[in-house]
Amino acid sequence: MYLSKLTLEQFRPYERLELSVPPQGMRITGRNASGKTSVLEALVLLSTMRSSRATSDRELVRWSSGVEYGLPPYARIEGIVQTAANERHAIGVSIEVDAGRENHSRKRYRLDQHATRAHDLIGVLKCVLFSPEDVLLVSGPPAERRRQFDILASQIDRSYLQALSRFGKVLSQRNSLLKSFARERVQPRDPRAIAELTFWDEQFVGPAAYLVAARLSSAARLSSMIAQRSATLMDGASIEFQYVPKMKTPEAREGESGADTRRRVVSALADQLQLARTDEFRRGLTLVGPHRDDFVFALDGRELALYGSRGQQRLGILAYRLSEGDLIAELTSERPILLLDDVLSELDGVHRDRILRAVLADNCQVLLTSTDASLLDNAALRHLPLMIAADGAVEAA
Ligand SMILES: Nc1ncnc2c1ncn2[C@@H]1O[C@H](COP(=O)(O)OP(=O)(O)OP(=O)(O)O)[C@@H](O)[C@H]1O
Ligand SMILES: [Mg+2]
Repeated sequence: MYLSKLTLEQFRPYERLELSVPPQGMRITGRNASGKTSVLEALVLLSTMRSSRATSDRELVRWSSGVEYGLPPYARIEGIVQTAANERHAIGVSIEVDAGRENHSRKRYRLDQHATRAHDLIGVLKCVLFSPEDVLLVSGPPAERRRQFDILASQIDRSYLQALSRFGKVLSQRNSLLKSFARERVQPRDPRAIAELTFWDEQFVGPAAYLVAARLSSAARLSSMIAQRSATLMDGASIEFQYVPKMKTPEAREGESGADTRRRVVSALADQLQLARTDEFRRGLTLVGPHRDDFVFALDGRELALYGSRGQQRLGILAYRLSEGDLIAELTSERPILLLDDVLSELDGVHRDRILRAVLADNCQVLLTSTDASLLDNAALRHLPLMIAADGAVEAA
């Protein structure tokens, strides 16, 4: 899959940008703050309907948007996508800031000129981003790893996305019920409280088990891909990636269907909720479930967050990102676009060459950025057009 055209209007520093992108991709260089990351961010937005870095959509709308004509600020992002099956799709996202309420905005979505929901648009464009902030994936809190894994799984499986959204709603209802029990010191044997909680337990276990079962199977596959990727990138060292569910999961059974695994996870989860009930009443929150899962990275048996050098952490994360691409390609028959934001700095020449070789071997569209044009001037990359970002434009060097 590749993006053939990107149009930005009032997005970040761009008043208007129309960028044609060749199937093989491009190199983008430019000084700090010239708008390189903003281009990649726009692609991530078109893929996941969320920014890779902003906490609020307002940040994405150009500061001076709307000022000139006295209109409410807005931003528009549109991409033309060509799929492996030779289909062409136009994906559009617009952000409209409420008149008079600066911090309120709404997003609208379009697929092939028709209004649609975010849910139906997520994953139409598939991409994998590697950025320097990704160190958080190794050294940050578990929530960050869950978020990243959820983004990956949602690009592969729409039912995962549905389960995730349902799970979030049920979890918050269940938590507020437990919170009220804790506040009012309701006893875990109180039949009315049990009846109320049982209702939410029934709503909870289905989507929770869907997430856990999907994480079990995808993480296992991803883990073997990461081991392979890291062996080629890192002098034979091996990155181990492991899913650490909060619940005790049933033993894997060879050749079992997804539905059967889910049934066994549902029943294990229901048992564990029973066991945790007294604690949950006391503490006022849900103690078992996928919202407390984690994933760990290790390098030859040692936790990467604690013992890995900066370069090793970067390479480990790169192995993870490339494997995300492998998993998406295996399960959807579409190789995602690879977005490499400033990956080459901080790595030595040998590792840089290995990364570029690995990236190009995949034959996917690649967009790379660097402030340092000489890092992009690598023999392996010369077939990619070199673009310069400056003054709200991206133009051929
Ligand atoms: N909503 C916005 N409206 C206008 N300008 C913005 C907005 N948000 C960010 N900017 C500015 O856009 C510029 C480009 O940011 P971007 O992160 O894309 O640059 P970059 O080329 O990736 O820089 P670096 O090399 O430092 O990573 C910055 O000057 C930033 O302050
Ligand atoms: Mg940047």
